[in-house]
Amino acid sequence: MFRSNTCGELRLADAGSKVTLAGWVQRVRKMGGMTFVDLRDRYGITQVVFNTEHDSALNEAANRLGREFVIQVTGTVAERTSKNPHLPTGDIEIIADELNILNASEVPPFTIEDESDGGDDIRMRYRYLDIRRTPVRQNLELRHRMTMEVRRYLDSKGFLEIETPMLVGSTPEGARDFVVPSRMNPGQFYALPQSPQTLKQLLMVAGMDRYFQIVKCFRDEDLRADRQPEFTQIDCEMSFVEQDDIITLFEGMAKHLFKTIRGIELTEPFIRMPWADAMKYYGSDKPDLRFDMKFVELMDVLKGHGFSVFDNAAYIGGICAKGAASYTRKQLDALTEFVKRPQIGAKGMVYARVEADGNVKSSVDKFYTQEVLQQMKAAMGAEPGDLILILSGDDAMRTRKQLCELRLEMGRQLGLRDKDKFACLWVVDFPMFEWSDEEQRLMAMHHPFTHPKDEDIPLLDTKPEDVRADAYDMVINGVEVGGGSIRIHDSALQAKMFEILGFTPEKAQEQFGFLMNAFKFGAPPHGGLAYGLDRWVSLFAGLDSIRDCIAFPKNNSGRDVMLDAPAALDQKQLDELSLEVVLDEKK
Ligand code: AMO
Repeated sequence: MFRSNTCGELRLADAGSKVTLAGWVQRVRKMGGMTFVDLRDRYGITQVVFNTEHDSALNEAANRLGREFVIQVTGTVAERTSKNPHLPTGDIEIIADELNILNASEVPPFTIEDESDGGDDIRMRYRYLDIRRTPVRQNLELRHRMTMEVRRYLDSKGFLEIETPMLVGSTPEGARDFVVPSRMNPGQFYALPQSPQTLKQLLMVAGMDRYFQIVKCFRDEDLRADRQPEFTQIDCEMSFVEQDDIITLFEGMAKHLFKTIRGIELTEPFIRMPWADAMKYYGSDKPDLRFDMKFVELMDVLKGHGFSVFDNAAYIGGICAKGAASYTRKQLDALTEFVKRPQIGAKGMVYARVEADGNVKSSVDKFYTQEVLQQMKAAMGAEPGDLILILSGDDAMRTRKQLCELRLEMGRQLGLRDKDKFACLWVVDFPMFEWSDEEQRLMAMHHPFTHPKDEDIPLLDTKPEDVRADAYDMVINGVEVGGGSIRIHDSALQAKMFEILGFTPEKAQEQFGFLMNAFKFGAPPHGGLAYGLDRWVSLFAGLDSIRDCIAFPKNNSGRDVMLDAPAALDQKQLDELSLEVVLDEKK
């Protein structure tokens, strides 16, 4: 027997038992003739005491111990005189009589404790050491528990877990593909799936009815805190369903996860907010509803009073920060600097405080009478003690996005974005298309397989930009945790969609012939959704970045610094693949 117990297991009731533990040395302390070791494994930490005074062999072995040595210890469980209330095993210690050093360790490059002294880069380079730390390990444990609950829930609803290939053709989801050269087909490339979208639709044509897969997806896009080049989806598809059926079933899954993982019972149905309202009131298709601070349009109230910035604006909107009239000039200047940062791009910010007597004092008092300011106060629903912040601009959508950033920042400053509070909603009725300045054409907002709303189909020919889709996203605390749609299952409508998206019939056939052909053989009405597993886990763990719930993540430049990937290929491999590398000097 290698070990009788783990390092997180023993309690006072075990006092007197003879045990064998194995693990890593977290810390060694010498006191007189005693050596104390904190022994760690995945399950916890147990204190081991070596009474080395009269045992020279034990003394010699104990003297060799250093941080992260792997050891096996046999001894007797004893009650501790000075108990540690912070450790589950803190009432006991092991009085060791045997020590077996299983493996030595070099001094680790950073301390392997909850609060490490290691910077990001070094911890990522030695990620296997980082994972020994409790907070990182706990994130991986949480991830495991979540995937188990996902499987349990979907299995109970009759879903089949089916794997789809990783070496596929290009899937158009809006990002660039990662490609893999084919040795056996010189000059040809596979693409790694951005998602199994078309394959899961083919599984519906194949009659599988309810499919899911916890699946790696690959997207070559710019990275952010909630984006990794390879990430995991909980990907699902269902046949013979309408939007409501899908939303109900996956809302059920969200509630199941909240209950089993966080112990939170969500009884109310999630809000369903049309995309147009989300943009109008929050300037975002993923509003953080943990706090209110809805936008109020102030064009009617504030235009035409001689303040040229507002008089020339295409949009003027304000938010009301409750109880924030006490903000100092310095704080307000900092907020103005915040919205003027290049990433946000506002030209300036106007503010108004509602004073105790109800009077409004604003940064543009010379243009507005108290009467107009009172109208603004009424429009904003502001009360004494509140602070009104106003942005304007010549592009309504852009200004709303700036106001969204300001709202989120105010929410943060006022402590309204508590990580232990959750606000879930569905954003529905997305536009079918969005205009791409870069491509100079309409692009699918979700993807080209999304079904337009039946009542909007006539607009496809006349005003495609007004067509709404049967598409929906689930948003929690301002994070898009999932999205999906009802799909087109009719080859003629699908062909029309490709035409609007600028595909020639030949190009559509070349890229999606397999799907359109399949639709000729009895495709059932179908739809689905994919949740982002990494985002769910990081939300439940209260993390700022999804990196922390991934065992071996990439850094911001898409590199794995531990494996030192990506890397150049040697000439032999290039030759086998019929590849020649020509580097662009300008890049
Ligand atoms: P979508 O592109 O919206 O839809 O992706 C679904 C969910 O996957 C997560 N996600 C990501 N997570 C981490 N890093 C990324 N780079 C990343 N990109 C996306 C998000 C997102 O909501 N095939 C469709 C789904 C469908 O229609 O059924 C799709 O992939 O949480």
